[in-house]
Amino acid sequence: MRTAVVPSNIALIKYWGKREGGRQWAANDSLSMTLTEAATKTSARLLDGPHDELWIDGQRVVGDAQSKALLHLVLLRQELGFATPLVIDSHNSFPSDCGVASSASGLGALTLAAIAAWTGARSLPDLQARGFDLSRLAHLARLGSGSACRSFFGGYVLWHSGGSEAFQRVDTVIARDEMPLADTIVLLSRDKKGVPSTVAHKSAWSSPLFRPRLAGLPDRLKTMTEALHAQDFTRLGEAIETEALEMHAVMMTSTPAATYLLPRTSDFIVWLREARRQGDFEAYFTLDAGPNPHVFSRVKDQALVADRIRTRFGAEDLILDCTGTGPTLCL
Ligand code: PMV
Repeated sequence: MRTAVVPSNIALIKYWGKREGGRQWAANDSLSMTLTEAATKTSARLLDGPHDELWIDGQRVVGDAQSKALLHLVLLRQELGFATPLVIDSHNSFPSDCGVASSASGLGALTLAAIAAWTGARSLPDLQARGFDLSRLAHLARLGSGSACRSFFGGYVLWHSGGSEAFQRVDTVIARDEMPLADTIVLLSRDKKGVPSTVAHKSAWSSPLFRPRLAGLPDRLKTMTEALHAQDFTRLGEAIETEALEMHAVMMTSTPAATYLLPRTSDFIVWLREARRQGDFEAYFTLDAGPNPHVFSRVKDQALVADRIRTRFGAEDLILDCTGTGPTLCL
């Protein structure tokens, strides 16, 4: 049995839209922060039987052609030539499909656990010795879910979209200790999202805002990396909010449109900005493809921020997360 724990990651610059002519070839460079608490723990062992057996959060997934996880196992076999079926048991530390980036940690952990089981590797260095370093694992995980590739590295991670699919690169660009931050994830809704991000990615190019967005992203990436190096939280936070709203503007102006925000999300944004303006605390939001805000703050301010959110929005579920160090693998 091999057990992988792969954290989720939250994008500061979003991967939104893909380029033609490659598998999961991102339209733009994206930048993320690897998390700690929001993670997927997946165990895999070889099975003496005809088919894979997949369990997610205690539920057996049977013959579901739509299951990203089962399709990913098929794809890994095609890529790597392993044949033996596996028993996979996977648990998320957080609700899935509601904008907490469960596909990143889920597909990441599946990739790592399955390859460890097939190769018999006992640790990450052992996997590297067998030809599977973190870059290769990230590349394989990306084929299942683009954002999963960033979860293989700690701190702040750049997924560079490169000149072709094969030249995409993923690596830590700023170490965790340069600027550890808190991410308080606010679960305003646990409902599954209506439009899967795989579907919505495809319509990005139809938005009149998409090409102007792509033209402006290199400057935003520069702003964010400079702000991280300079530990300039205010500059970073302002860019993070603009980026999140821009991605949602693209989603809402695409054909077909995808609207992930709820009225409660707008209420939350208005409240957070007002609290900040009044000097109560300094925190900034981002959003993934879902209605649930991620609130960045300095680590020392997280308890206060969480307390204010609870007071204003009732007994909401919060995940108190922070910058993380990447995946682990054990027996
Ligand atoms: O990896 P996917 O196909 O689930 O797309 C993820 C897209 C966002 O979460 C909205 C942004 C990102 O970069 O993580």
